[in-house]
Amino acid sequence: MKKNFLYKSIKNEWQKFHSKKNNKKIKLHEPTFGVEEIFNFTKQLITTNVTMGKQVESFEKKICDKFGFKYAVSSNSGSSANLLMISALMSNLYSKRLKKNDEIIVSALAWSTSIFPLTQYGLKPVFVDCNLKTMNIDIQQVKKAISKKTKGILAIPIYGNPCEMVELMKICKKNNLVLLEDTCESMGAKYNGNFLGGFGLASSFSFYFSHHITCLEGGVTVTNDFELSEIMKIIRSHGWIRNIEGKKKWVKNYPKIDPNFLFVNEGYNLRLTEPQARMGMIQIKKLDNFLKKRRKNAKYLTSLMEEFSDLFIFQEEKKESFHSWFGFTVIIKDIKVIDRNTLCNFLNKNKIETRVIVSGNFVSQPVVRTFKHRVVGNLTNASKIMTNGFSIGIHQNLGNNQIKYIYDVFKKFLKREHLL
Ligand SMILES: Cc1ncc(COP(=O)(O)O)c(C=O)c1O
Repeated sequence: MKKNFLYKSIKNEWQKFHSKKNNKKIKLHEPTFGVEEIFNFTKQLITTNVTMGKQVESFEKKICDKFGFKYAVSSNSGSSANLLMISALMSNLYSKRLKKNDEIIVSALAWSTSIFPLTQYGLKPVFVDCNLKTMNIDIQQVKKAISKKTKGILAIPIYGNPCEMVELMKICKKNNLVLLEDTCESMGAKYNGNFLGGFGLASSFSFYFSHHITCLEGGVTVTNDFELSEIMKIIRSHGWIRNIEGKKKWVKNYPKIDPNFLFVNEGYNLRLTEPQARMGMIQIKKLDNFLKKRRKNAKYLTSLMEEFSDLFIFQEEKKESFHSWFGFTVIIKDIKVIDRNTLCNFLNKNKIETRVIVSGNFVSQPVVRTFKHRVVGNLTNASKIMTNGFSIGIHQNLGNNQIKYIYDVFKKFLKREHLL
């Protein structure tokens, strides 16, 4: 790339700002973007072509090429990507649409906006427990939860750790269910060598700032189903047909309405912008390298932390899986032995950031009382992850010294508590 005055100025400003930062802190996440993305973002702004257009189209194509999906419909967040997936699935335009009160089985260990599109569209989430080691939906519980009303399963690989996709696909096939994936935490993760996101009817990804790659905010829904992709494009943009391939049949049926303002389904404005898409195209080139670093860090930290495995549970990566390590999770085996707040405060004082794992056992969140749902079995593991679990960063900017430092701080704490 030609390093012109604008590029050099951005680089200069970036270096001035970031040289002041205290790098010792082990953050949950650090920016995946830098000078190149800001330069390209700015160049796109200068063109004044900012609303969804050619760049967004190219970005969607890049996503399809990279992961082997047929159709990608980008949007302004992972939450919107989930909303598009469910609203299209419920649309009158969709030939295989689901109906109100149909049940969707989902792990209780979930993110809030994995669930809300279901309930907003009148689907009933059926919550089941997860496995304590993988943190993903428990297959036996899924089997128990199937009723006459069950129409689908929503798989949410936690922190980039693939769910048991072959088992889930078998259950779906046997019971005629749709398989959906919320892979917002799992970009680049694979199961049996295949990228997550392509196993079911549709899947969502997030480009939020803290995720594997970012467009500041952003998301994408992917599918191999042309009809669904067209409906998502309609819903993404006001409910009009302007951005779909199959415009002709609509135009023919409504010759008196301007095709640019022909509205055929209820919709929103959930679009990604051109500068964001241009940024995303640079980010996607960097994904493999980021994943390599996350996986290397996770492997090293897991090997060090094994020493403390009497006290903690660390996330298990199954042999079929290629985990994309959104973060490193720690579950305290017994909170009578180690108090979570005391440990997290100690870590935070030693400049290691912590957070709870997704939304915890979502059934215990007050909002769940406001919508129809069903719970199958006890949710012991999801509850334990909520009360005993937390996560720390394992991102692309950490090196061996910082990973070793995390281990040293844990060791210091355990010695202080006379647990070693
Ligand atoms: C599993 C899952 N789904 C959906 C989302 C929503 O993504 P966004 O923050 O881009 O709206 C997140 C957010 O981190 C998530 O973890």
